[in-house]
Amino acid sequence: MSLSVDPSTPANGITPAPQQAQSGVPVIQIRDLHKSYGEQEVLKGVDLVAPRGHVIGLIGSSGSGKSTLLRCCNLLEDSQSGEVIFEGEPVAWTRSGAGRQPADRKQLRRLRTNLAMVFQQFNLWSHMTILQNVMEAPVTVLGHPPAEVETRARALLAKVGIGDKADAWPAQLSGGQQQRAAIARALCMQPKALLLDEPTSALDPELQQEVVRVIKDLAAEHRTMLLVTHDMRLAADVCDHVVFLHQGRIAEEGPPARIFGAPQTERLQQFLSATMAPRPDMSNASE
Ligand SMILES: Nc1ncnc2c1ncn2[C@@H]1O[C@H](COP(=O)(O)OP(=O)(O)OP(=O)(O)O)[C@@H](O)[C@H]1O
Ligand SMILES: [Mg+2]
Repeated sequence: MSLSVDPSTPANGITPAPQQAQSGVPVIQIRDLHKSYGEQEVLKGVDLVAPRGHVIGLIGSSGSGKSTLLRCCNLLEDSQSGEVIFEGEPVAWTRSGAGRQPADRKQLRRLRTNLAMVFQQFNLWSHMTILQNVMEAPVTVLGHPPAEVETRARALLAKVGIGDKADAWPAQLSGGQQQRAAIARALCMQPKALLLDEPTSALDPELQQEVVRVIKDLAAEHRTMLLVTHDMRLAADVCDHVVFLHQGRIAEEGPPARIFGAPQTERLQQFLSATMAPRPDMSNASE
């Protein structure tokens, strides 16, 4: 498990140089965040730091608030109190409590375009080819020159192993290929961090491995990532720090070796024993 960050690692030539780990300002910081849906408080005072070049894993049972937290980070969801800080810059809010919203549209746009989401269900645009999917936002949202974006997009598709699928339609790709296209699309925005919400959960085990390989490559490049996953092996392999959410609170957090090797709280111990329980031996299934 490689947990340390080596800032001398060379850039891969395709994407911008990996963010320098020694920079003191975290890409994302969350302080005492509270979020409710109506009467139900889903996040009950969460703190989170994603230092540059680190991979932060979010684990926890279904309904614990992982996706909500991720979506609050890039302001896809509003929150009622607490701070969201992007590269040292606190999000400016207008109104308070239930009516609280980001106040500055430019800041909102800057934050959204720099924190690129990858969803469980890929969410590719079905009426666009794979190449068009990858090029769309950098051209239309960021206003980058199409020729430059196309070069970058093709390089990214090659990087995730689907360079030959540029002109295919999403429906012509396997789930694993679609998810890799979605990762290339997120990377083409040249974001400061990737926010991945269960990127492998919708895939068969064999296809999961294609995506896991890509995520491991990105971690090895010291990409800043927030990774929500139910795949504890993936979390153990790629994360620098793992956060265990339980009912909207951080019940335990730490380096993966401790979280998975020596969990301190009973809640985490229970979660891990339920999640990592050995599967029934299928070798006699046909007998
Ligand atoms: N749009 C919404 N409206 C109302 N309640 C919501 C909404 N989205 C999520 N919730 C509730 O918030 C809680 C946390 O949901 P969230 O999706 O963040 O959980 P999760 O940890 O990502 O779970 P999973 O592992 O199943 O994806 C749940 O109780 C859920 O029902
Ligand atoms: Mg979720």
